[in-house]
This record gives sequence, structure tokens and C-alpha cells, in this order.
Amino acid sequence: MASGHRPMGSPHLLLLFAFCSLFGSAAPADLASDRAALLAFRAAVTGSTRQWNVSASSPCSWYGVTCAAGRVTELRLPGSSLLGTIPPGSLGNLTALRKLSLRSNGLSGSLPSDFAALAGLQFVYLQHNRLSGQIPAAVFALRQLLHLDLSDNSLVGEISSVFNNITSLKKLSLEHNRLTGEIPDLRLPSLVHFNVSFNQLNGSIPASLRALQASSFIGNSLCGMPLAPCSSEISPSPTPSPQSLGDGSGGGGNKKLSAGAIAGIVIGSAVVFLCLLLLLVLCFRRNDKGAAAAAKLPTEAEMALRSKRQVPDSALGPLPTRPPPPPPASGALGDRNLVFVGKVQKAYGLEDLLRASAEVLGKGTTGTTYKTMMEMGTVVAVKRLRDVNLPEKEFGERIKAIAAMDHPNLVSLQAYYYSKDEKLLVYEYVPNGSLSSILHGNKISGHTPLNWEARLEIALGAARGIEYIHLKDSSTTHGGIKSSNILLDKSNEARVSDLGLSSLGCTPMPNQRAVGYRAPEVTDVRQISQKADVYSFGVLLMELLTGKPPIQLENNEDGVDLPRWVQSVVREEWNSGVFDLELLRYQNVEEEMVQLLQLAIDCAAQVPEKRPSTSEVVARMEKIRSSSTNGN
Ligand SMILES: *[C@@H]1O[C@H](CO)[C@@H](O)[C@H](O)[C@H]1NC(C)=O
Ligand SMILES: *[C@@H]1O[C@H](CO)[C@@H](O)[C@H](O)[C@H]1NC(C)=O
Ligand SMILES: *[C@@H]1O[C@H](CO)[C@@H](O)[C@H](O)[C@H]1NC(C)=O
Ligand SMILES: *[C@@H]1O[C@H](CO)[C@@H](O)[C@H](O)[C@H]1NC(C)=O
Ligand SMILES: *[C@@H]1O[C@H](CO)[C@@H](O)[C@H](O)[C@H]1NC(C)=O
Repeated sequence: MASGHRPMGSPHLLLLFAFCSLFGSAAPADLASDRAALLAFRAAVTGSTRQWNVSASSPCSWYGVTCAAGRVTELRLPGSSLLGTIPPGSLGNLTALRKLSLRSNGLSGSLPSDFAALAGLQFVYLQHNRLSGQIPAAVFALRQLLHLDLSDNSLVGEISSVFNNITSLKKLSLEHNRLTGEIPDLRLPSLVHFNVSFNQLNGSIPASLRALQASSFIGNSLCGMPLAPCSSEISPSPTPSPQSLGDGSGGGGNKKLSAGAIAGIVIGSAVVFLCLLLLLVLCFRRNDKGAAAAAKLPTEAEMALRSKRQVPDSALGPLPTRPPPPPPASGALGDRNLVFVGKVQKAYGLEDLLRASAEVLGKGTTGTTYKTMMEMGTVVAVKRLRDVNLPEKEFGERIKAIAAMDHPNLVSLQAYYYSKDEKLLVYEYVPNGSLSSILHGNKISGHTPLNWEARLEIALGAARGIEYIHLKDSSTTHGGIKSSNILLDKSNEARVSDLGLSSLGCTPMPNQRAVGYRAPEVTDVRQISQKADVYSFGVLLMELLTGKPPIQLENNEDGVDLPRWVQSVVREEWNSGVFDLELLRYQNVEEEMVQLLQLAIDCAAQVPEKRPSTSEVVARMEKIRSSSTNGN
């Protein structure tokens, strides 16, 4: 391949070229040369540029032209009836250009190669024209490019893997062209928008793009997530692939593997996919069991709990498969009672719990939680743990260690119940719901969305609770920080719940839920470091600031990859676009919001060592809060 040698030299050449055009004595790049470049463009392309007042010595007042620091930085002529081909030595000479929008015109041909000199170009909108030929090679030299829209043209050829060189790229729109071949394995860290729909692409969608929406790929002969699986990946049967939505060659899925390399790639990805599939199947089976148990047990428990007046003691005992046992002789379960572990001592007994009315508060990875109101009016939250396989002694010790954590920002654990078939945890009841339900729940009437101060207070309270856990011992962690575990009490103070539960071995399989909060280095959800807690907290802060839920499930149905999304938006322009619209209504707090966002970004650093400690987090938040209240 010729690309073996060339690329080595091209960056230098490019630099040299840019250098020359900036400072070279022959043609110093200044407003006069920008003006000459625009006039060359005007001469070659008919359209509304005819109205430019060419007797003016500065082009900055011309329609569509924006200048900064004595240079042309933007050229925006959308829908301006531009007909013709951009010639070399015209727009390619606008070396200070940052934004080019010539969308919805009749431009034909390709971009001249001197576009490669526009090193500062960030936004290129050329959609809805008649550009032809391959994707112009000059774009690959634009290393600051953020948006490239070439959709609705007549481009042919393949999508080059050299797109990977434009590492800043956030948006790549290539839909409605005539591109062929396979999508290369694009690994663009900032990419948030990608669309290649309605081309003539084939093959499987690379793993790096599988989290995107199906509508990014439709109208091709592509297969694999998020579209239908590739037929060769499921079974070797030669059934035609049903996923070809476009005209494509609907012949069948069997003419692949033409070249050795392609075969290798296809087989490789098939193996990976099969492994993933197997893993998923295993996970789901496992989860189904759990889910089935969780779905079945509560109803039974609730029924039992409600009909408790007739059948004392046994409600928590029977498994769904067993016939209801006869009422046990009194004292049969006598030695199995609640073990009180917190400050509340023997305020109620197992019988009171069994007689109480129960209402499901939430179902999570570790089990289902019920609001339980006892006859004497005491309300507690009872959590039925799922899949705990610790022996009683060890279980009791761990629970006591958890209960020993006593802080105003933690939900306190009062008691537990352990039997072979049933493990219950009894917590104090926190009345105002979880942060998750308030942020993302359907806005129930009366629930005002949280304002800036409330959010800052909640974040600070939660941080204090977590700091307390972390200071207890260098190895103690929460292990499951997420917005559904941040509860709000009567005065909307944050109370962190469910601490330490992931260490009980409730879920030996990888945690399916809450993937969006999980630090990248975490491989076993039962072993979370304090730095991984900090990462999760960073994601939680982003959630508070953006109002967007992070990814909840492995398959990314809902939610955003918050750290990645926030980073990509912030890289381009600080504030706009990141914050929850609700928050933008508040004046004079933008500075603090930006500071909290920066803290969130620091917490969610990829490298654990770069994340601050929780004490630093609390200190920085206290500082933000004091400047926030002073500002009013
Ligand atoms: C793209 O990046 C790779 C790796 O840095 C480099 O070897 C190659 O020359 C670049 N290609 C182009 C066309 O700039
Ligand atoms: C064009 O620019 C010249 C020089 O600045 C000015 O004198 C003239 O009035 C302008 N013409 C129009 C139509 O604005
Ligand atoms: C564009 O730049 C090149 C190289 O500096 C120069 O030769 C050419 O004349 C310029 N074009 C215009 C229209 O000024
Ligand atoms: C994609 O289509 C081209 C012809 O357009 C063909 O040569 C190639 O084998 C196809 N690749 C796959 C994976 O189907
Ligand atoms: C991609 O483009 C197609 C065609 O314009 C559109 O229908 C689809 O919604 C787009 N998808 C995304 C994710 O932007």
C-alpha cells in the first residue's frame, strides 16, 4: 500500500505549508489574501456571492463572512444557490477558517486538496450538495475537526479508516450518499453523532459503534448490533439476511469471505460475538432465575404478609414451589428472630413485620425493598436480599460492620433476619424517595424539579456520607453508588443507602444494572475500591448537573455514557448544552455549576490515581457552596 510511506512525511509537509502560508514572504496570509481567496471562490461559483460589495477593501462586511483578529474565520452561505466547483487556491487559502457552512447548495466536484491547509477548521457543513468522487482526502488532515457533515451528496468509495486520525471528531454525517464497502473500526473517543444510513455499505457494524442507534445504519446491507445479527454469526445456515433494508444485494448472506483478510475479520468478530452471546445468554438465564424469584416471591410474601393474621410466623419461610406448610407449632421458629444491630433495640419483632402491610418501593440488583407499616404505626423499609450464599456467621459479621456505620447522611440499618431461605434487612424508612425517581421519574404533580441549591445540598450530603464510609477504614467502600441509592429525607437531606451490599455476594455475576456508574477498571462488582466509588460519585454529579440518566443496562437501551458525553461537549464549548435546562433558569450560579462540573469530570477520570479522595471532593463542594451562597 502506498500509504505506508506517505503519511510519515505528510504532517511535516503540512506544517511547513501552513507555516509558509502564515509567514512566508511571497504571500503573507492576511485579510487581503483572504479577500482574494473569497473573490476567487466568487468568480468560480455563481450564486448569492454576486451581492458581495467587491469595492469594499475588507471582506468582513460581506454577507456570510465573519472575521476575527483581522482574518476570515467563518464562511456561512447555506442555501445560497451556489453552483459550480470550489477551485484550488480559493477557499483553501482561508487559513484562519474555523467554520464553513455551504450546505443546501449545488456545489459539485470534490474539495480541492489545498483544504488540507485549513488546520483550524472545526465545523464543515457541506450536506445537500452534489459533491461527487470519494470522500475528499483533504478532510483527514483537519485535525481539529469537530463536525463533518457530507450527507446528501453523491460520494462513492469506501469510508476510510483514516477517519480515526481526526481524533477530535464528534459528529460525522455521511448519510444519503453512495458509499460502499464495510464500515471501518472507528475508534473516535469523542464521537457522539454518527450517521451512515442510506448508502450501499455491507458487512457487520464494528463493535465500537454498536452502542449507537439503529437509525444511524439503516438503508444499507449492514448487520450486527444495533441491527439484526449477522446470519453468519448466529448459524452457518444460508438463509438470506432479513436486515438488508436498502436496495443492496439481497441475494443472501453467503458470498462473504472473499478475501483472506475479510475472512479473518469476519471469523474473528463472529467468535467474539458468539462469546458475547453465550455470556449474555448465561447472564440472562441467571438473571431470569433471579427475576422470576423476585417477581414471584414478593407477591407471595405480600399475600402472606397480608394474610398473616391467620398464619403467624411462616410467611417468610416457604419457597414458592413448596405447598404452604401447616402453621408451625409456636416456638418452632422461636430462635429465629430479628437480630437488632443498630441504635434501635427490639422496638418490634418478626411477628410485627409479618403482620404489617407491605408496599414495593423498588427492585434492585441486591433485592426488593418494601415499605412496611406495622400495626403500631412504625414504618420501616425491609429489603429481601436475593442470592446471598454466605454462612450465617459471616453474614452476621458483615451486617454488623455495615450497621456500625452511623452518620446523618447514611440510611441506618436496624435489624436483620437470617434463615436458609430468607434474608431480610430492616432499615429506617426515608420518606421522600430516591434522587433517581425525582430526577427522572415521571413528574408527579407537586414534585418541583430540584433547583440548583437543592441539588448542591444533596450532592454535598451524599459526599459526606460516602466520605464517612471511606474514612472508617482505607478498605471500606460503598460499592454501589447511584442515584437510586441516594434517598431524601423529610427535609430533602441526602441519605445514602444500600452500602456494602455488593460485598455480600448477592450478585456473583457481573452487575447488569448501573453499568453507567461503574469505573472502567472494575472487573468484579464485589470488589470496588474507594477510587471506584469516587468514579461512581462523579457520574452521579454529572447526572445531577445534566438531568440525564447514565446507562442503566449493558445493552444501552436508555441513558447516556455520561462521562464521555460530558467530556465531548465540554471540550468544544464549556457550558452550553451540558446543563439541565431546569438549572439554566437560575442566574448567577453558572460559575459554580461549571466548578461542580469540573469536579465531576475529575472524579470520573479514567485513571483511578487521578481521581480525588472523597475528603477532597467534600472540601471542594463546600467551597463551591460558600461562593454560591455569597453570590446571592
Ligand atoms: C493517520 O495516523 C496514523 C497513526 O498516527 C499515521 O501513521 C498515518 O500516517 C495517518 N494518516 C494520514 C493520512 O494522515
Ligand atoms: C461598497 O463599498 C464601498 C467602499 O466601502 C462603499 O463606498 C459603497 O457605498 C458600498 N456599496 C454598497 C452598495 O453598499
Ligand atoms: C492562494 O495561495 C496560493 C499559495 O500561497 C497562491 O499562489 C494563490 O495565488 C492564492 N490564491 C489567491 C486567489 O490569492
Ligand atoms: C460487500 O460488497 C462488495 C461489493 O460491493 C463485496 O466485494 C464484498 O465482499 C462485500 N462484503 C461483505 C462482507 O459482504
Ligand atoms: C440518520 O439519518 C437518517 C436519514 O436522514 C435519519 O432518518 C436518522 O434518524 C438519522 N439517525 C440519527 C441517529 O441521526
